[in-house]
Amino acid sequence: MLLVLFIIVSRWLPVSMQLKTGTHIHPEFAVHLIAGAQGREDDLNAKNRKRIMPNPLTEPPAIDPLYEASLYCNTLGITVRSMEGHAPHNMKLLSVQVLIRHGDRYPLYAIPKTKRPDIDCVLEPSRKPSHPRLTDFISHMSRGAEGQMDGILNGLPRFPSHSFCEMGELTQTGVVQHLRNGQLLRDIYIKKHKLLPKDWTAKQLYLESTGKSRTLQSGLALLYSFLPEFDWRKINFKHQWSTIFCSGHCDCPMRNHFLEEEQRRQYSFRVKNINLEKTYISMAKVVGVPTRQLRASNPIDSLLCHFCHNVSFPCTKNGCIDIEHFKVIKSHQIEDEKERHEKQLYVKYAKLATHPLLNQTVNRMYRIAQGKKEEIFALYSAHDVTLSPVLSSMGLTEARFPRFAARLVFELWHNPEKKKEHYVRILYNGEDVTFQTSFCRDHERRSNQPLCPLDKFANFVQKEMFLALNSTSYYDACHQRSV
Ligand SMILES: *[C@@H]1O[C@H](CO)[C@@H](O)[C@H](O)[C@H]1NC(C)=O
Ligand SMILES: *[C@@H]1O[C@H](CO)[C@@H](O)[C@H](O)[C@H]1NC(C)=O
Ligand SMILES: *[C@@H]1O[C@H](CO)[C@@H](O)[C@H](O)[C@H]1NC(C)=O
Repeated sequence: MLLVLFIIVSRWLPVSMQLKTGTHIHPEFAVHLIAGAQGREDDLNAKNRKRIMPNPLTEPPAIDPLYEASLYCNTLGITVRSMEGHAPHNMKLLSVQVLIRHGDRYPLYAIPKTKRPDIDCVLEPSRKPSHPRLTDFISHMSRGAEGQMDGILNGLPRFPSHSFCEMGELTQTGVVQHLRNGQLLRDIYIKKHKLLPKDWTAKQLYLESTGKSRTLQSGLALLYSFLPEFDWRKINFKHQWSTIFCSGHCDCPMRNHFLEEEQRRQYSFRVKNINLEKTYISMAKVVGVPTRQLRASNPIDSLLCHFCHNVSFPCTKNGCIDIEHFKVIKSHQIEDEKERHEKQLYVKYAKLATHPLLNQTVNRMYRIAQGKKEEIFALYSAHDVTLSPVLSSMGLTEARFPRFAARLVFELWHNPEKKKEHYVRILYNGEDVTFQTSFCRDHERRSNQPLCPLDKFANFVQKEMFLALNSTSYYDACHQRSV
């Protein structure tokens, strides 16, 4: 019923409004209806066991670029979609590893010769969107002298603070998104499953972030509402210089080879799209720069920020960039994602890119399965270019491109009566995707076990993932052929 309503609304509302209002956009309107009608988001997670992910049958049938863009913005924190922590009652949760994308951020690029969107990155609890813990978060972050931050993380601010956001800076929306994530994970893992004891120690956490302020701040926001008022002396954030978290295993020529092939595919797919080319030409005219320069400024990144913050698209004396421009570029992005899956170059890149991180994930699970009580909760604060290949390499082809504050969770479970049996659950933005992974896709049908055995995941990471690359190990797959 709600979803039906949504379709009707999303079908005519954005279009009619956009036509009337020109450059004003209302990304949040349609989604508001859903969230509002289902009640307060806090009520919904633990109790509601029904599948509440959008049903493919009732979602907008054709690609709707505005609907997709509003999901990407994630501005409402639709926390209703949460299946984390659900397992048969005889199972016990042993550990949780979380990989997040940073929250909403200011663009990384500016559209030449236009005014940048006026967005305030100073945290202001009375401004929307806000969160009950925002005030306390700010004061706790200001007292963090005793927290240990590796390398360059130490020099980064712990919360955003510029009244005119800097390029790439986390916004208040981004902080709130991760305060919500942390709250949700706290309700499930700490309150319900008692994953960590009250007097948890530094060794029970594993924290890692790339060297950008937006990832560190996102990680801190999640951690703050996960473990409110945490003791800074127990916090040690490791710095990861690689966006794919390859740590000591980054040398992999074949990975670069597949990435270059994928970029060639992307290029030829783009130049085939005549409508897209016309759109760039039209936008370049509005802005008054050569088309090539306009394209190189990656305008969609900036336009998404306008869209997510309901700020009018930029205008010049020649006219305005409008919603039609936006729709064409966004639609192209979605079609490009589709072709990317079909052509199978990206997945080869993805397997090589993500093996080191997945290997670490599996290793940590085995250590805990063997009784070690360390790194029970791990948090990796990362980017779209981190999450996207992980989804791809695990075969989650239906998963949407990582939105702001996306989260991918790996849970480890066991049955205390059968000491040797361990299981994994994998969740993407709260949806249980365990049985959509290539390694557990057939498991549910073929066995009576309700969960996916850890050994299946491990076998995938250690061997299976290289079969499509005609190799049996990471090293071989990386160095197989001269490029
Ligand atoms: C977006 O901006 C328009 C015009 O400023 C305003 O009328 C509308 O209420 C805003 N929508 C949301 C969801 O904030
Ligand atoms: C994978 O994990 C094993 C430990 O089980 C380690 O010896 C190996 O170096 C790791 N390989 C990579 C590529 O991360
Ligand atoms: C693996 O081998 C098959 C058959 O020899 C070949 O067709 C395929 O292209 C190879 N794949 C890769 C990634 O090298």
